[in-house]
Amino acid sequence: MITLLGSTGYVGQAYEHYLRSRNIAYVGVSRKRLDYSNKDELVNYLRDTKPVFLINVAGYTGKPNVDACEKDKANCLQGNAVLPGVIRAACAEVGIPWGHVSSGCIFSGTRPDGRGFLETDAPNFSFRQNHCSFYSGTKALGEEVLGYGEGPGQDIPSWNYQDGEPDGYVWRLRIPFDHIDNPRNYLTKLMRYQYLLEATNSLSQLHEFVRATFECWEKRVPFGIYNVTNPGQITTREVVKLIQKTGVSHKDFQFFKDEDEFMKIAAKTPRSNCILDTTKLQKTGIKMAEVHEAVEMSLRTWQS
Ligand SMILES: NC(=O)c1ccc[n+]([C@@H]2O[C@H](COP(=O)([O-])OP(=O)(O)OC[C@H]3O[C@@H](n4cnc5c(N)ncnc54)[C@H](OP(=O)(O)O)[C@@H]3O)[C@@H](O)[C@H]2O)c1
Repeated sequence: MITLLGSTGYVGQAYEHYLRSRNIAYVGVSRKRLDYSNKDELVNYLRDTKPVFLINVAGYTGKPNVDACEKDKANCLQGNAVLPGVIRAACAEVGIPWGHVSSGCIFSGTRPDGRGFLETDAPNFSFRQNHCSFYSGTKALGEEVLGYGEGPGQDIPSWNYQDGEPDGYVWRLRIPFDHIDNPRNYLTKLMRYQYLLEATNSLSQLHEFVRATFECWEKRVPFGIYNVTNPGQITTREVVKLIQKTGVSHKDFQFFKDEDEFMKIAAKTPRSNCILDTTKLQKTGIKMAEVHEAVEMSLRTWQS
């Protein structure tokens, strides 16, 4: 049996759908049922139910977007930075392997060489750099509590795991989308916003993400961090072209002049736009469609 923490959320629902569709026994746990932020309660629960694996898809996402995190910092810190450490400690005590859904939003841009960020790169959009959103800062802290050793003589975690990889999976999700119209779906968001920001990003097709993360466990690939995004990179304008090409919307899409105008008019806190390298996941043999193909496929099967 699998324990699924955060099963009531947008991403949690996609896990439920996947596990049900494969007849895999699981128990979705909501906070109403169990205060899993309390380590002792979680330990007792895990001892009683004896799951073979725990997936943590719980976390604090601002609604309707990350701007909301700026006004609810205590909950954001608790859900994204403190909770992962509690879950890790409880799983270690009971001896249960775990996987944690993290986020690619702890990065901005590309590596200096223009490639996507590797799992060994330290986040560059976090409280340690001081220009991030509160949400991204807490997500980076959440990864930090999951088992990075500090490099010799360094105050800042090296992210090189000289002292060992995290003792579970850390799966980085990035801008989820799928074929179902939903205010949380990136494709729906693009079609509903009045103005769009041109940016280049890695994206994750939600159901491919869920399948790929579960395959990590099923194939027993080594624990550690994995960028779980569709290979490649895509610009907002390219997504818009695919929306128009597939006929899902013929709206006249308007763009902000630049990021400054976006920040002035539409946002309270900086956004992460970034590219993640997916070589590590690909080397395990776990496949995800190339990002343009994945977007086009979702649009071709679009359900309003
Ligand atoms: N959606 C995205 O765009 C996106 C992108 C990258 C990464 N992620 C990460 O994926 C995870 C799930 O995101 P989601 O979009 O499914 O979020 P969501 O729809 O807001 O659902 C959040 C889930 O987390 C639970 N939760 C536990 N502690 C919480 C707390 N302190 N504050 C708020 N919720 C708490 C909620 O449980 P209750 O029902 O009991 O309240 C709910 O099941 C998060 O860690 C998020 O950072 C999401």
